[in-house]
Amino acid sequence: MDAVQIIATGKALPKKLVTNDDMSKIVDTSDEWISTRTGIRQRHFCDGEKNWELACQAAKHALEKGGIEKEQIGAVIVGTATPDYIMPSMACIIQEELGLPEDIPAFDINAACSGFIYALRVAGSLLQEEARPYALVLGSEQLSTRTDMTDRSTCVLFGDGAGAVIIKRNTEKKFYGVWGTVGNRASLGCPGHVMGDPYIYMDGQTVFRFATQYMSNAVKQVLEKAELTLEDVDYVVCHQANERIIEYVRKQFKAPAEKFFKNIGKYGNTSAASIPIALTEMDEQGLLEPGKKVVIVGFGAGFTWGSMLLEF
Ligand code: ACO
Repeated sequence: MDAVQIIATGKALPKKLVTNDDMSKIVDTSDEWISTRTGIRQRHFCDGEKNWELACQAAKHALEKGGIEKEQIGAVIVGTATPDYIMPSMACIIQEELGLPEDIPAFDINAACSGFIYALRVAGSLLQEEARPYALVLGSEQLSTRTDMTDRSTCVLFGDGAGAVIIKRNTEKKFYGVWGTVGNRASLGCPGHVMGDPYIYMDGQTVFRFATQYMSNAVKQVLEKAELTLEDVDYVVCHQANERIIEYVRKQFKAPAEKFFKNIGKYGNTSAASIPIALTEMDEQGLLEPGKKVVIVGFGAGFTWGSMLLEF
């Protein structure tokens, strides 16, 4: 498979900003507990906005930044575990709202927090066959609607937001990526209304162990496939679930702090949206000039995991 090349990024956050001090008025917690255990200082929560509205904003942002015509989009895939509707999919709503072509596939992927990485890989493989040159890939989440705001062990961790990228095939480079599944519904999940429990449950320490082990291994495997070392890579962008998880992975590689991009302090864990939001911020900070190599890596409920090399 040819490499996936990102040519534009975009993001959207709900207007409502909720600090750790705000959370401490809802549950028995503190800025000190949250920030030292997770690195999170604030997050955005939807207050009337729909998940699909955030997704459309992020998609428009990426299309405008990239100067991409709608007719050039050959597929829309959204990584999300928190769609507004069971059906139609978020991707179908984006196709309608943005007036994208009718002869293209548009669908969602639920791989929880790994959803964006899964969506990117699937979109890359679809582009091998599509006549149109680009795909629109998103991670878009509204975790606040699935979080029990009386459960301090989960409600302080999550935030809402959307990130979007426009990708094309790079026929001069090969694709390097890994992904996988280690089914474990006991440790992390969200039953939903049909199952009689709308909220996320989590065994934090089991998730922590899974995340550190599988993210470290995934980065190693991608580097081996690409015959690179971490020194050859400019940045690693981990799913922003917890600063301590990211630091654990960084220390496995004895890498300098600046190589592992972090913005969890501002947004909390936005699940599938965290990597495309991070890429958008990196782009805005001028970190993603042509030629830069970035490894993205994530894990999620399932458990799912995945990583890939991106060259800008
Ligand atoms: N404020 C204050 N105290 C709290 C809070 C809170 N928000 N939450 C839990 N506590 C208390 C607990 O009640 C417990 O008290 P006790 O000892 O009196 O029983 C104490 O803090 C320790 O609780 P632990 O759960 O053992 O805390 P731990 O050190 O494991 O940290 C954390 C919890 C931060 C959730 C950690 O386990 C973690 O980061 N896990 C990974 C979570 C994660 O990344 N999930 C991903 C979610 S989905 C996804 O992205 C795929």
